[in-house]
Formats: sequence, C-alpha cells, structure tokens
Amino acid sequence: MSFAQDPVRVALDAAVRAPSPHNSQPWRFEVDGDRIGVFLDPDRILKVADPDGREARLACGAAVLNVRLALRAAGRTPVVHLLPRRDVPEHLATVWARGRVTPTPDDVALARAIAYRRSNRRAFTAREVPVWVRQALVRAATEEGAHLAVVGRSGQLDELGVLLREAERLQREDLAFQDELRQWTASDGARDDGVPASAAGAGPEWPFDRKPMVAVLSSYTDTRLAQLRAGQALQRVLLRATTAGVSVSFLSQPVEIPALRAAVARLVSAPGNPQVVLRFGYGFAAPATRRRPAEAVTRYTVHG
Ligand SMILES: Cc1cc2nc3c(=O)[nH]c(=O)nc-3n(C[C@H](O)[C@H](O)[C@H](O)COP(=O)(O)O)c2cc1C
Repeated sequence: MSFAQDPVRVALDAAVRAPSPHNSQPWRFEVDGDRIGVFLDPDRILKVADPDGREARLACGAAVLNVRLALRAAGRTPVVHLLPRRDVPEHLATVWARGRVTPTPDDVALARAIAYRRSNRRAFTAREVPVWVRQALVRAATEEGAHLAVVGRSGQLDELGVLLREAERLQREDLAFQDELRQWTASDGARDDGVPASAAGAGPEWPFDRKPMVAVLSSYTDTRLAQLRAGQALQRVLLRATTAGVSVSFLSQPVEIPALRAAVARLVSAPGNPQVVLRFGYGFAAPATRRRPAEAVTRYTVHG
C-alpha cells in the first residue's frame, strides 16, 4: 500500500481489508470529492449467525477505523460523522479527508499493519503475551470508547471454555447455521469473499494453547452507534496486536447466541455488552484472505 497516492483511494483500499464475519465484507462506499460514505450492504448480513446485523456493523466500524488511519498516514485529517442520516439506516458513516496533518510514527505503524493483519486460527506457541502488550491492547480499546477485559483467572477461562463448547454444540446442531457456514467457506481461489480452507485452524479445541490470552471486547450500550464504535475499537486492538507481532483469532460463537452472550457478560463483569471474544498469542504466519477490490464496492459521484 503506497501512501503517495490519492488519499481517498488509499483509504478505500484500506477499508476493504477490514475483518468481517465469514469474510462477508458487508460494506459499500460512495465517494464525492473528499467525502467517503460508508454503507452497510444488507444483502451480506449473515441471516442465521447475525440476524440483527450486529457483527456486520462491527465489521463496518473496523472499515471506518481503517479509513481514518489511512487518511492520517496520507497526511489528511479525517473528520468522522457516525450515523449521519436517521432516514437511511444503512448509511453508517461519512468520513471527510480534510486539512493537512503530519502523521505520528504510531499512526503510520498502525496504518501499515492494515495490510498484514490476519485472523490466525492456528494453534499458538506457549509464549505468553507480555504485560506491556496486554496493557497496550486494553488502552487501544479504551481510546475508541470500548472496553477490553482480559479473562484473567484460570477458573474464568475454564468457564468461558464451557460457554464456547456449548455455543459450538448448538451451532453444529443448527442446520441453517451449518448451511450458511458452507455457503461462505469457499474452495480456494474461486472467489474474492468467504473463508478459504487454507485459512482454517485447529478446529474447535479448547484450550488451544497452554497459556492463551483471551479477552472480551464490550461496549457500554448496544445501540447501532455503540456497535460502530466497538468495531473501530476492535480494529484498533487487532492492529495494535499486529504491530507487536501478536496473532489474534476470534471466538465469536458464545456472543452469537443471546443466552450465552449474557453469560459472557456476567463472567467478565465488564460493562454491559460483549461484542467479540478474542484469543491472542504467538502463532505461525497465516495466509491472507481475498477481498472484493475497492473499485468493485465504490460508487463515485460525477459532477457534470
Ligand atoms: C465480528 C466478527 C466476528 C468474527 N467471528 C469469527 C469466528 O467466530 N471465528 C473465526 O474463525 N473467525 C471469525 N471472524 C474472522 C473472519 O472470519 C475474518 O475476519 C475474515 O475471514 C477475513 O480474514 P482476515 O481477518 O484474516 O482478514 C470474525 C470477524 C468479525 C469482524
């Protein structure tokens, strides 16, 4: 990714690198001059796993953070308006590329990490995530107005393991869920969305690693606005981990089932609303997943 190009185009290339459930890429963009509109694509919401579109909004929030970081790294000030129009619920954000700014080295490091961040589902080594990295991850979530609770005590981790296994059992027995999963688990190289077999991991084992660091990202409320913010927090946490050489994978199953989601909230006694469960550690390189190119999901307004 070169930051010498048009900042808006660079920002769109960054946006589409965001993570999304089953790599569904539930977004589209509208550009008018220096203005980028970020829209939810309702046809790409996972109807079974994510009936309310909560995870799709997290993914779009992650895309918004990528836009912000890419603009800053390109020397522009991002001005963000979340949910700008009540009458158009899919219009999730507008970001303007405004006046010049000198990016900090940290802005540049986070923006560069967008291209090489991966979900890494493989087993991690026994090496523990050091305290300073944990603290940096917690701060990253706080910076975006969300909360990252590290599942600390080993008893707590076992309890979360029970919830995860229960969620996996329910989803395994849910034929509609399995059908949706199959639709998005593409054969390698055949399409530019979905999760290829090459990105699959160790499977539903728990714990994968001897000393997993597991954390729950929560938001203070569960409004659409809070979910968009949580998506930005999620992406800042993921990019911060990437810059520290730490691999991450998602363990979303328990938060996709309402009763278990409430149990996760009680378990971490964090504010309110768990949005994702993440596993951190030191892994071996994971392959990149494909994306629909930015130009395929962007409409430009042409002024005659
Ligand atoms: C809200 C959300 C929930 C996700 N849940 C899971 C999950 O439960 N299991 C999993 O293996 N990956 C999960 N993912 C990761 C996606 O599958 C991944 O982002 C996508 O395949 C693109 O790959 P990448 O992250 O390596 O770019 C989730 C991603 C998001 C944004």
